[in-house]
Amino acid sequence: MDAFYGTDKPKTLTYLEFGEIDVGKGGKKVWDFRINQKAYDWLMLGRYSNDLIIYKKMMTAANYKKIRDLYFSEIHHKNDSESNLNKIIGLLAVEGAIGKNKRSSFFEFGQTIFGCIEGMEFIQKYVNRKKTFFKKIDLKKNIWYGLDISGFFNELAIILHPEYNVVTSIDFSKLPNKFNVFFAKGISLLYAVRSARQLISIIDRADLSVFDYSFSFNGGEETTIGSGKTIKYLDFNEFLREYKKNGKIMFVCENKSFYNNETKRVYIECVYGSIKYCGKFIQLHKDLFEKFSTDPEISGIMPDIDKFNSGKINWIPVDEFINKIKM
Ligand SMILES: C[S@@+](CC[C@H](N)C(=O)[O-])C[C@H]1O[C@@H](n2cnc3c(N)ncnc32)[C@H](O)[C@@H]1O
Repeated sequence: MDAFYGTDKPKTLTYLEFGEIDVGKGGKKVWDFRINQKAYDWLMLGRYSNDLIIYKKMMTAANYKKIRDLYFSEIHHKNDSESNLNKIIGLLAVEGAIGKNKRSSFFEFGQTIFGCIEGMEFIQKYVNRKKTFFKKIDLKKNIWYGLDISGFFNELAIILHPEYNVVTSIDFSKLPNKFNVFFAKGISLLYAVRSARQLISIIDRADLSVFDYSFSFNGGEETTIGSGKTIKYLDFNEFLREYKKNGKIMFVCENKSFYNNETKRVYIECVYGSIKYCGKFIQLHKDLFEKFSTDPEISGIMPDIDKFNSGKINWIPVDEFINKIKM
């Protein structure tokens, strides 16, 4: 399989074009043109390094208005603050799994330049600035493991974080077998994962896995979404068969997950692990988001928080969720 495109027979070519348009006479000149991995890397580096710098700026910004303006005008994914809060909740939930004097570990599949470190530093400083909602985690003591198909991002993730313990690789076998917290954006999994067994074997490596994913109810489906790379939506029933062989459990956040009748796909935001760590995550998640939904300065940078109507956050096992939404 062509690793970058995610298929042996790519139907698309990834490109990046830079140049000028003469606004008087018209006409366009191309200054630089890149294809394949380099095109992807150069575009995404711009986007993710901008987020990283903006999080640093937000940490020293004078007031709420300035922070809010920076967040909504610059951070490219508007749900980043919620996502970063979930990563912190993940680390808090597995505290009991970390041996005495041992460091916690956090693994991201598709970490890019590990900009979530700045995002998480910002979020824990910001939400606790007036009142302590949770014990601050020393993120400099954590070990940050990342796996990315881009060797360029793997090296940059380390160079950009000299004060943190960052270990990255392009090869899963070079990273430890066990982590405390696993995180992935659904898109990174859609790019890389080709079978339900592979997905389970990845999320099984952590005490607690926090991620989103989209399953198909039309059999496994391959398609592209604009970056040129091929993504695969796993068939939900194939996943369920593999999942049931395992002793672990997956819970879905009902407020954030939904079925799309047109595409016949289900989008889920979920946690996977032992009942103990999933339970701790869910309890903390409900407590914090319920409190934050009534605090305008916190909910003001979490555009999706209105989905968590105070007191009504609901997490249910994945098979129960699917039965509920089934046509
Ligand atoms: C949309 S970006 C990830 C998001 C980012 N870390 C975040 O929190 O928003 C997708 C990442 O997955 C990586 N990636 C793409 N295909 C991959 C594969 N087959 N294996 C591992 N990583 C892959 C990309 O290089 C990129 O860093």
